[in-house]
Amino acid sequence: MARKCMAAAALVLLCAASAQAARWSLETDEQGRSLLQEAKSPNCTRIDAHCSKCRNQRIPGTRRSELVCSTCDSGYRLRRDGISKTCDCAPGLAMDANKNCQPCSKGNFCLGGDATVNPTNAESTCPDGLETTFAGAKSQAQCFTKPGYGRTAAKGSDGKVSLAGVVCDIATYNVGSNTAGCQKCGAGLTTATNRSDSASDCQAPAGSYMDKGIGKLCQKGTYSTALNTNANCIPCPDGITTAAEGSTTAAACSLALKGYYIDSVNSTNAIKCPLDTYQDQEAAVTSCTPCDHAWKTKETGATGPALCLAPPGFELKDGATNITACAAGSYKADWNRNPCVECGTGLITKEAGSVSKDACLVPAGYGLTSLSPMVAAPCERNTYGDSVDRAAVANARCTACPADMFTMDTLETRTRNSNEYYTSEAACLVKPGWGTTATLPQECPVGTYNEGKNRLPCHHCGTGWTTVAAGKTAESQCVVQAGWKLAADNIPAPCDKGSYSTGGTEVAPNATCTPCATGYSTQEDESVSNEECAVCAPGFGGANCGQCTWGTFASGGAKVGDACAACASGSTSKKGATQSQQCYSTLIDARNDVFNLANEGAWADNAATTGTTCGAACDALDTCVMYKFVVNEAGQGSGKCSLLSEASTPSHTVGFKIGNGDDYSVWGLNQAVGAALDPMPAAAGSANTEALCKEACTSAAECEVYVFTGTTCTLTKSELEQDSISMFHVVGAKLYSDLHP
Ligand SMILES: *[C@@H]1O[C@H](CO)[C@@H](O)[C@H](O)[C@H]1NC(C)=O
Ligand SMILES: *[C@@H]1O[C@H](CO)[C@@H](O)[C@H](O)[C@H]1NC(C)=O
Ligand SMILES: *[C@@H]1O[C@H](CO)[C@@H](O)[C@H](O)[C@H]1NC(C)=O
Ligand SMILES: *[C@@H]1O[C@H](CO)[C@@H](O)[C@H](O)[C@H]1NC(C)=O
Ligand SMILES: *[C@@H]1O[C@H](CO)[C@@H](O)[C@H](O)[C@H]1NC(C)=O
Repeated sequence: MARKCMAAAALVLLCAASAQAARWSLETDEQGRSLLQEAKSPNCTRIDAHCSKCRNQRIPGTRRSELVCSTCDSGYRLRRDGISKTCDCAPGLAMDANKNCQPCSKGNFCLGGDATVNPTNAESTCPDGLETTFAGAKSQAQCFTKPGYGRTAAKGSDGKVSLAGVVCDIATYNVGSNTAGCQKCGAGLTTATNRSDSASDCQAPAGSYMDKGIGKLCQKGTYSTALNTNANCIPCPDGITTAAEGSTTAAACSLALKGYYIDSVNSTNAIKCPLDTYQDQEAAVTSCTPCDHAWKTKETGATGPALCLAPPGFELKDGATNITACAAGSYKADWNRNPCVECGTGLITKEAGSVSKDACLVPAGYGLTSLSPMVAAPCERNTYGDSVDRAAVANARCTACPADMFTMDTLETRTRNSNEYYTSEAACLVKPGWGTTATLPQECPVGTYNEGKNRLPCHHCGTGWTTVAAGKTAESQCVVQAGWKLAADNIPAPCDKGSYSTGGTEVAPNATCTPCATGYSTQEDESVSNEECAVCAPGFGGANCGQCTWGTFASGGAKVGDACAACASGSTSKKGATQSQQCYSTLIDARNDVFNLANEGAWADNAATTGTTCGAACDALDTCVMYKFVVNEAGQGSGKCSLLSEASTPSHTVGFKIGNGDDYSVWGLNQAVGAALDPMPAAAGSANTEALCKEACTSAAECEVYVFTGTTCTLTKSELEQDSISMFHVVGAKLYSDLHP
């Protein structure tokens, strides 16, 4: 009991009172024992069935005494009503129908019998909502709560404490069997009904959810419709939210989230704002707002006008209504509201709306002069760019021309024309008078030319042509080369031996070959100066290269001063003979032995008796035309020698054929010589000049002599005459070639 009292502090007072009562009862027992010894075994049950000790007691004012009970059985106590005739039940016991005290039944409490308060020794019931939890409860203090009830204690005006049970209100509970009041549910929780008897009856109300034993309001965008123990509220459909936290109905999901609008035909369906629109409020809107200025959004579901941007390649110009593509020459890479970025001075883009710096191009014929910032400029003097536009980021600079090549502005000593661009190496040209013949340009060597300002090799003047110096620029500067002349067909030809040419000059390009002075010649063809006329020409010789006289010859090439060579003894030549073949024997046989004369009387006898001396006699005589020698007697060595001399008044010209007509020995006679050919060639008949007559003889193999009268031509020959020989005389001065040079 003491332990129970200590557990329930509220009942201390009450317990103290009971303890006091028990101690006092015990003392009563001790006093009763001393009293018992005076009475001698009276039958106490006559007084009360449960009186265990009794005694006689004098009735005041009389001498009579009566039996009174002094001690009751265990579990009973003597009623203090001044009569001492009744044993009541002790606290915790109640009297049954047989007048026996039984332990107080569970649920009730028993104060014990009392003359005034409980004369019937009945059980007492606990207040509503309370009950005792064991049999034999002795006081109301032992009434504990029923489940779902709380216990309250109130001090009445008499100072007594009275207990009461109260139904646990909504949002409270009590498991029962205790002395406590109703326990509050966790913060934010409640119960479905009153009289809840378990903590588990505490749940989150509609609009809330449970988080570690605490009820919390559904966050915005969620709701719950009933008591629940869920750890989460039900989310609104995607894109939809509530006006506040703590929503209790699905219908509270009525506001489109930023970036959404609500389907006008299905309010539970939120749709992301289409591209280029936005929605910046949580509101029951059924459409999004188009971006200003035709700005665009990068994605659907834009949540505010700040997401309305100019896409790459576009900008909003100051004061413009709508965005426009970046102008050519500028670009913009990102989504933003910045202006387009200029590529840089001189740079271009292929079109408007470029989205990257990579789109910045260096125009054809331009080169980058600075990479950061990017600046391009036309390629100037002696540099070139490209024929196509190139990406500027690749650092497209102008390229220098190769060595000794120049651009037109340099070549023409002027500034570049505004519409003139150098777009490839082809713009690099050679100077006038230079050419690309070799790996590196070089000055055109002598004999070549190039007008320059091009990329050509030097042109060759052509065979027989040259230039007077290196570095010539035009074909008109080609002159005939030394040792050559411009021939009749306007094609240069080398100068023959015996002539020379100093070549053309730019003033007089057409050279001619100049013959060496008469009698002089050169060693070779293509001689280039008069100095090379240092040898005698064929047919010339001696100190001053005079013409070789009769009987001599020179084949040419002899040093000045060397005399002409003499023909062999017994032979002679025309003047200026050039070879030994032109030396003819001074006496030449008649082919058929004898040239007869028309007038045989013209022969003059000569004393010579041999053929040899006869011939020597004729040879010695400048006027001797021919001789005839007749052998009179065979073996005797003597014969008749006759000579024919020139006529003093010739009527005929007679030409003896030398060789096959190489020359003729010509004499003046007044008669024919030899026998006329039969038949006479037609050529002879038509020959009306000595030259024609001579040609007719040359043509006729049989002809040995032509006879020309000035009007008629006769061709004759020698005749057979066994015992005679006849030879004609060749004298240099009488050769046809000397007579008709
Ligand atoms: C005492 O009295 C009761 C009835 O009055 C009787 O039944 C009982 O036997 C008596 N006891 C004794 C010891 O005499
Ligand atoms: C307890 O709830 C019942 C039923 O809802 C009601 O009739 C009664 O009045 C309530 N009691 C208290 C004390 O609120
Ligand atoms: C309304 O939209 C929701 C969400 O898209 C969908 O689940 C539902 O079926 C729609 N209701 C009707 C009637 O179309
Ligand atoms: C601006 O753009 C909007 C939307 O594309 C268009 O309707 C409007 O005509 C444009 N205004 C001008 C001035 O171009
Ligand atoms: C050189 O010859 C050409 C061709 O015959 C001719 O046309 C030209 O006039 C000549 N030049 C001179 C300077 O004589």
